[in-house]
Parts: sequence; C-alpha cells; structure tokens
Amino acid sequence: MKIRKTLESVTPYVAGKTRAGAVKLSSNENPLGPSPRALNAITREMNHLHRYPDGRAELLIDALAEHFDLKRECFIAGNGSDEIFALIAGTYLEEGQEVVTADSTFSEYNFSGLLFGGHVKKVPLKEGRFDTEGLLNAVNDKTSLVFIANPNNPTGTILRCSEIRSFMERLPREVILVLDEAYGEFVTHPDFCPGRDLVMEFPNLIVTRTFSKIYGLAGLRLGYAMGHPTLVQEIFRSKQAFNVNLLAQKAGAEALKDHEFIERTLTLCREGREYLYKALDKEGFFYYPSEANFICIRVVKDSKKVFDYFLNKGMAIRPLASFGLNDWIRYTIGTEEQNREFISILSSLKSAEI
Ligand SMILES: Cc1ncc(COP(=O)(O)O)c(C=O)c1O
Repeated sequence: MKIRKTLESVTPYVAGKTRAGAVKLSSNENPLGPSPRALNAITREMNHLHRYPDGRAELLIDALAEHFDLKRECFIAGNGSDEIFALIAGTYLEEGQEVVTADSTFSEYNFSGLLFGGHVKKVPLKEGRFDTEGLLNAVNDKTSLVFIANPNNPTGTILRCSEIRSFMERLPREVILVLDEAYGEFVTHPDFCPGRDLVMEFPNLIVTRTFSKIYGLAGLRLGYAMGHPTLVQEIFRSKQAFNVNLLAQKAGAEALKDHEFIERTLTLCREGREYLYKALDKEGFFYYPSEANFICIRVVKDSKKVFDYFLNKGMAIRPLASFGLNDWIRYTIGTEEQNREFISILSSLKSAEI
C-alpha cells in the first residue's frame, strides 16, 4: 500500500499541548468558558439528536446574514474554519498549483494546500506582520490561493484597511485571497476593516471566521466563510452533505446574540492586555502589541524548554518553535489571576538555568 505522493510531506497537526491539572493557555480558547446562550440552545436541542442536521445550516446562515447585514447566499458554514480552508482548497486548487502565505502563521493553510497537491510558498513576516509586497511578488500564473491571517496567529498583528484594499486591487482576479479573521472580533485598532466590508467589492475575496475563540465553542467545531455569492456557492460543491452538526448550528445562531458574554470576553481581553503589557515592559520582555486574545513574547531561550518550565509550574503555554520562532512563546490572555501567575512564572524564568 502506498500513500498519495502529495501526502508524503504532510505531518499531522500538533495542537497546543497540556497535561491533566495544568491551566491551559496554549490554544487561544476563551478563559470564561462557552457562551451561556449557546449552552442553553445545546441543552434544548439534545432531544433531536436522532435527526440529521440541516445540510445547508439555514437557521445559522440566516443568523449570520442578519448579524453581518449581507445576503444569506454570501455564507457557508463548516466543521470549524479548518474545514472551510480545506473546502476552499478542494474547490479551487488544482494539483501542482501554488498557495502563497507567510512563514510564521497558522499551519492549516499549509496543510490545506498540501492536501490537494499544491505547492506552498512561504513569505517571511516583516516585523511580525504579513508582508503584502512580498506576497504579491510570490504570486505568479501558477498561484491559486493566498492565505492571510488578520490578526495573525501567532504574532497578533494586523494589516490595516488601506493595506488589504491595495493588496486586493493588485492581486490578479483569478487568484483568491482567503482572509482568516479567526480573531477579528478582538481587534480594537481603528484602521482595521473587517473583510465583510470588502467581499461584495472583490469577488475573489473570501473571509473566514470561527466560533472557537470569542464565543468559547472550540470543542463544538463551528466556523464559516463569507464572500461574493458566486464564490460561496462554488465552495458548496466541495462540502459533505451534513458537515455541521445539529448542536453546533443551533448553538452558533444563539452565540451570535450573546451580547453580554461577548462584552465580558472583550473586557477581560482588553484589561488583560493592558496588565500584561505593563508587566512585560517592567520585566524587560519584547512582545508584539496584539490585536487578538494572545500575546507573542520573545523569551530569548529555547521555547520548548520554556514550555516544559511552565508546565512543571502548572501552566501550558505555546512554544513557537514549530512556527519558526525558536525563542518565542505565545500566551493566551487568561483571567486576572492566570495573567498574574503567568507573569510570576515568566519573571522567575529569567534566572532559571534552562
Ligand atoms: C488563525 C486561526 N485560524 C483558524 C483557527 C481554527 O479555527 P477553528 O477552530 O474554527 O477551526 C485558528 C485556531 O487556533 C487560528 O489561530
């Protein structure tokens, strides 16, 4: 038996690791738990689990259309945004074509490209940000897809509105930009423009978002894409019949309306950022100011050893060696108490013999 040639270079995804009893701040999950409105919807829906879900997730898509004030034809839901990336690649990427993205970014773009036999070109970040000029230089007549995370994981940086707009104006029409806004709801920068505002103007732009972060539903697996109806309806062709489960559909529609929970999450994130910036400045650590619910910090030590050091003290953080950032870590902003504990461990790291 022989696996497909294209899979020879694919290695299974390595998730943020932890161990029983440790505080897990390694996967950018919501420290407040799941949206309570979503939980209620799940409880109500349990008795219907003998039924197949709606294959087009109409109730959820209606809720998204209302939330974003776009037509329902502009949306497709998936089993996490991870599935959406694969659906997009499965729809547009011919074997041997190219995918362009950054070197230090979310690994699922690389995975989706390789899965469908694409060649993935990785353009180095510039000061922790996607380099739009470098990306455009990497695009050629073999390019099918470009992936940009805005904000980027793991650096938390964004591209400004003018940068995205000018990128789209210069990107050949046959190339699709997948703009991943998994952390879009956390952005406070005044020059961020949600991709939602651009999708009707640029028919080769597809924007993805997720319920895993701000809505606290990572374990449920729910993500979605929005784009020009022509593009979205093409992506539907790659979708399996019942890709989004019944509980996720109902929970997602409710979570969108959970304003109280969203506000609490944003406040926790904002206050956490302010506390952490001050503490990191005081301790003398370099970091990228973040527009997301995590911070990327240079620890100037082997990130895998730093991960073990934290885990021995009861906290799981993300070492960034697998992102090509060997002496950096990523910390998911936690509760006030967790943030204090993080800083205390980080401070002790400076004199640790590792
Ligand atoms: C940039 C980015 N996009 C997408 C995802 C995955 O989202 P989902 O849980 O919807 O698959 C993550 C998860 O960490 C992420 O960091």
